[in-house]
Amino acid sequence: PTAPNGCPVSPLAAEFDPFGDAYQQDPPDYVRWAREQEPTFWSPQLGYWVVTRYETIKAIFRDNLTFSPSIALEKITPTGPEANAVLASYNYGMNRTLVNEDEPAHMPRRRVLMEPFTPEALKHHEPLVRELTREYIDRFIDDGRADLVDQMLWEVPLTVALHFLGVPEEDMATLRKYSIAHTVNTWGRPRPEEQVAVAHAVGNFWQFAGQVLDKMRQDPSGPGWMQYGLRKQKDHPEVVTDSYLHSMMMAGIVAAHETTANAAANAMKLLLQHPEVWREICDDPSLIPNAVEECLRHNGSVAAWRRLATKDVVIDGIAIPAGSKLLIVTSSANHDEHHFADADGVDIRRANASDHLTFGYGAHQCMGKNLARMELQIFLEAFSRRLPHMRLAEQTFSYVPNTSFRGPEHLWVEWDPALNPERRDP
Ligand code: HEM
Repeated sequence: PTAPNGCPVSPLAAEFDPFGDAYQQDPPDYVRWAREQEPTFWSPQLGYWVVTRYETIKAIFRDNLTFSPSIALEKITPTGPEANAVLASYNYGMNRTLVNEDEPAHMPRRRVLMEPFTPEALKHHEPLVRELTREYIDRFIDDGRADLVDQMLWEVPLTVALHFLGVPEEDMATLRKYSIAHTVNTWGRPRPEEQVAVAHAVGNFWQFAGQVLDKMRQDPSGPGWMQYGLRKQKDHPEVVTDSYLHSMMMAGIVAAHETTANAAANAMKLLLQHPEVWREICDDPSLIPNAVEECLRHNGSVAAWRRLATKDVVIDGIAIPAGSKLLIVTSSANHDEHHFADADGVDIRRANASDHLTFGYGAHQCMGKNLARMELQIFLEAFSRRLPHMRLAEQTFSYVPNTSFRGPEHLWVEWDPALNPERRDP
């Protein structure tokens, strides 16, 4: 096979399959050959150029005019006519939010909507995160065994996300149910027979998000980020558009929830796979903030992101034509030896751990990064204090096949409840 620029495709590039289990299990290891030998390559299976090195990816993030984020939420697997008809029957209209908005529209919107993410504003959410963390751990602390994903790490960030957005309590259960469909719809490769079911779920999610927003419109005085957006719309209707608000009401849940839930599961998995590191954290919780950064670097929850080349470019010496789609494998960048010494090692004191690209970089860098960091730190503080003796149970890890959002579907841990510190020292 040849790439769109006429160059031959190497056998490993031809084999590259980001929906296969090898990619899900360890994306940076799966593309190690590329990072070392062919850092930017054409993937015939995906129809994307795949970019794997740190400096290259950072430069792409830095230039959001040449490398447009407009395809960030585009369905990576185009759906067939049947699924499209289902989506249309729900008036599905997911459009630009922030993450996929081009300049000059993006920056003014980002600025107008930034305040709820400032450290002072985020402080208001801390008590809720602590309370939920305590409650959920209370439920299983005497059991000696738990699936941390099913029993805590999926739901707590979801509840925090819904509160952050300002979703009324009575609508939370419905939105919980719908949110996973959006991930498969956007970043996954559902089989044709699954596509229709996914389309119904996504359509329902879209409509319900619209209803929740309409309800908020009647009284936009609440503390949530969506109410904040509704208030800002009054002064800046051309910046905070109806289409933005409806799309963000749906996309925001996933942006804030799954990313953080997966990050927490990935972090606990990584730390428990390195018991000596876990022990250090338990002995000295002041190591937690940098340990969180190292976990986000080593085993982050966003494996890859997307950009569209708006003009002819040269990337890693490869001529890439205008209109090309790029899969930028940020998880690979995070293991680039040229930027991180002993990149595959876990070093919770690593001085440049927070240089990771898991939150992206530049104009679109994750707005919620400090909310996510707060949650992750609080989870690690609670686990290291209340269950320092927990260890990973024997298990194999499964992942939802998709290019971008990555975390184990289950994370079984076990411990001897008789040794719980709270029993010894109540
Ligand atoms: C953007 C990752 C948590 C809200 C992004 C981007 C990534 C990302 C990769 C795109 C960056 C770019 O294009 O340069 C993550 C990860 C999280 C997380 C790994 C958790 C560990 C959150 C949370 C929120 C949030 C909790 C809260 C609402 C956003 C928003 C944007 C964004 C609004 C768009 C920013 C813009 O385009 O200007 N995030 N995110 N994220 N994230 Fe997050």
